[in-house]
Amino acid sequence: MQYGYFDDDAREYVITRPDTPYPWINYLGCNDFYGLFSNTSGGYCFYRDARMLRLTRYRYNNVPTDVGGRYFYLRDSKDGDVWSPSWMPMKSKLDRYECRHGMGYSRIASARNGLCFSQTSFVPLGDKCEVHKVTLTNESKAEKNIDIFSFIEFCLWNANDDMTNFQRNFSIGEVEVHGSSIYHKTEYRERRNHYAVWAVNEPVAGFDTDRQTFLGLYNGFDSPQVVFDGKSKNSVASGWAPIGSHHIKVKLKAGESKAYVFVLGFCENPEDQKWEKPAAPGSAGVINKKPANALLEKYSTAEAADKALAALNEYWKNLLSKFTVDAEDKKMARMAGIWNQYQCMVTFNMSRSASYFESGIGRGMGFRDSNQDLLGFVHLIPERARERILDIAATQFPDGSAYHQYQPLTKRGNNDIGSGFNDDPLWLIFGVASYIKETGDYSILDEKVPFDNNEAIADTLFAHLKKSFYYPVLNAGPHGLPLIGRADWNDCLNLNCFSKTPGESFQTTANYESGVAESILIAAIFAFVGPDFVEICKRTNRNEEVAAAEKAIANMIDAVNKHGWDGDWFLRAYDAHGKKIGSKECEDGKIYIESNGFSVMAGIGLEDGRAAKALDSVKEHLDSPYGIVLLQPAYKDYHIELGEVSSYPPGYKENAGIFCHNNPWVTIAETKLGRGTRAFETYTKICPAYREDDSDLRRMEPYVYAQMVAGKDAVNHGEAKNSWLTGTAAWTFVSITQYILGVRPVFDGLLIDPCIPSSMKGYSVTRHFRGADYHVKVDNSAGVEKGVKSVTLDGKPLDGNLLPVFGDGKVHQVVVVMG
Ligand code: BGC
Ligand code: NOJ
Repeated sequence: MQYGYFDDDAREYVITRPDTPYPWINYLGCNDFYGLFSNTSGGYCFYRDARMLRLTRYRYNNVPTDVGGRYFYLRDSKDGDVWSPSWMPMKSKLDRYECRHGMGYSRIASARNGLCFSQTSFVPLGDKCEVHKVTLTNESKAEKNIDIFSFIEFCLWNANDDMTNFQRNFSIGEVEVHGSSIYHKTEYRERRNHYAVWAVNEPVAGFDTDRQTFLGLYNGFDSPQVVFDGKSKNSVASGWAPIGSHHIKVKLKAGESKAYVFVLGFCENPEDQKWEKPAAPGSAGVINKKPANALLEKYSTAEAADKALAALNEYWKNLLSKFTVDAEDKKMARMAGIWNQYQCMVTFNMSRSASYFESGIGRGMGFRDSNQDLLGFVHLIPERARERILDIAATQFPDGSAYHQYQPLTKRGNNDIGSGFNDDPLWLIFGVASYIKETGDYSILDEKVPFDNNEAIADTLFAHLKKSFYYPVLNAGPHGLPLIGRADWNDCLNLNCFSKTPGESFQTTANYESGVAESILIAAIFAFVGPDFVEICKRTNRNEEVAAAEKAIANMIDAVNKHGWDGDWFLRAYDAHGKKIGSKECEDGKIYIESNGFSVMAGIGLEDGRAAKALDSVKEHLDSPYGIVLLQPAYKDYHIELGEVSSYPPGYKENAGIFCHNNPWVTIAETKLGRGTRAFETYTKICPAYREDDSDLRRMEPYVYAQMVAGKDAVNHGEAKNSWLTGTAAWTFVSITQYILGVRPVFDGLLIDPCIPSSMKGYSVTRHFRGADYHVKVDNSAGVEKGVKSVTLDGKPLDGNLLPVFGDGKVHQVVVVMG
């Protein structure tokens, strides 16, 4: 069944009942201040780093699910009726409920007994705060006297420490209250120069800042004593758990409506201007509120909040106008044109740090993840892609290997995770090539970029790419295939790990480095990105590099041909004993998806039928109604020589789950063979919009991709997990837009190369590309799957299917006839 519907004109998903099978969330924020916001107003916010600078507390894996958010409680003073207008945390009965998740904002609207509530939440462009505009409307015939109680719970900044170090934390919480503003200033007296403010643009009848006083002894968020009493206690927290709650008394005539603007902000002071009045024995210091005052002044009226929201809407409208799709298949059009791009921006901003599955304390920015995420937004904000590339490259080591992750606040490599994932270097070539194909900006190659964040050993970005290119060549194993190191793209194929100790991390544990375990996937990635490296050399007059690079690519393909083919599909790897993985000879894990998709993407086996055979085998052995599983048969037992992949129960995650990230590799590979119907089928199977009415099984949001869907060996086959932060977003965007709809940026222009189901009779795409707009109309009345018969550009026939770069700020009309 469905729990809502897409409103494409508004670019919103409208949730029509609050009890979704899992909290369905949205992200607020575009630059450095972010909020996670669920359909019942759950979630939390942070400034730049979800671990180090978290403003509000959230309890992962809690019961009930999704507790912690920006809550408003309402009380009708006539009869003492108390409720949560966002449903949670009281699970209140509502006469009406709707949550609209839009681009960077969410709106919850509900009604009970004639009192209509609406909450519009967003992070305004350029400010470090969440704005929550709350409107109450009396839809009844009689006057109403309503009490609003706001509620947030402060996190003591470091989210990890906040959840673990109670012996200290219960003694350090500090707040200040001035008028309608509540300031959270824990640790401000020592090494912090920032505080949080939670304020409303209206005089308050009272406030609370101490959690226990507000809730009452042993009460939960669903039964706050103060709200039942209808009166705040004006508590000032000292230690324990500081919260922020305002009490506003509202009188509403019949039909009357009133709006309030709540702001939750992050404020910083220069080190020498921290205090209005420094602390003295017996009296706490008074913080300098200048930045808070300036922020609150900005959002002191409902009109100002509306204006900021309008600016945010305009920002998204502009961004998404860079790529639009019009097609009969509305699901595809709305995903490719709206939600997939939106998810790509979120994934770019968050990497894999903060979602309802990533706690925000665990992971930094991934080297390979960020390079792949680039693909999904480089057409939207190329300048941020440029910046990101340079940040990532600076964490590369002088030998071409790389820190697997870096920390967003410091932009430094993360020593806890270290290096040794031997696919990492190649993704840098991939990211840079994608950036250049989009922008034509070769100047990025001349940027001086440190190695290992050390300016003293900086070199050009091109030098980094060259190190990347030769890393797998110089680190090859007995079959001339790249050594896998700790793991390749599949973090769980830990062939040098041999872990016996419970709880030990498969990714960081001491590595034997056998010098034997090899990856066919890395070889295929090399064969795929290598030619781009060669093109880059040619186009920047580095011709002396070309012959050697071409030879290295040929050798690699040769090694795959000799040692990477298993008869009906590509092998996956050789383990530390030189035994095949992903072969008919194996008892479990006979066939894997990754090496098959990527080898065909790289063009290996196209000429002799092996490519088609490999993809046919993928279909035969790995396909399912919900997507293609990662491997078959699933590992039944733990294999010490394989690592984490065999640690998962069959059907989950890398052990034969549908790991959506690699499905688009097969989609793209299918387009290489011209099999448009099958390519599209692989696209739709994992695409959330196509599973909207299957939400009870799928459980995750129907507007975003999930990292994993349980595979055919799992009990709940088809159930999704880990929505939002996944490389699936970028890769599906590439597969649908560049390879199925076939509007593909290449070094010299925009290539038009559709590969679609024969039943798709046509579609239109508008694409902003290097300073001009291309309106592309594809006519497939011939009913083919691939092949361009003619292209007309601005009314004139074009030779071939490569649209040139105009860069003239104009709109160019393109008509493509397939056949
Ligand atoms: C997951 C992988 C992930 C890795 C690193 C593993 O537990 O299965 O998908 O890449 O952790 O975070
Ligand atoms: C998730 C990780 O973020 C990504 O880097 C990895 O490639 C996949 N899991 C597969 O293991």
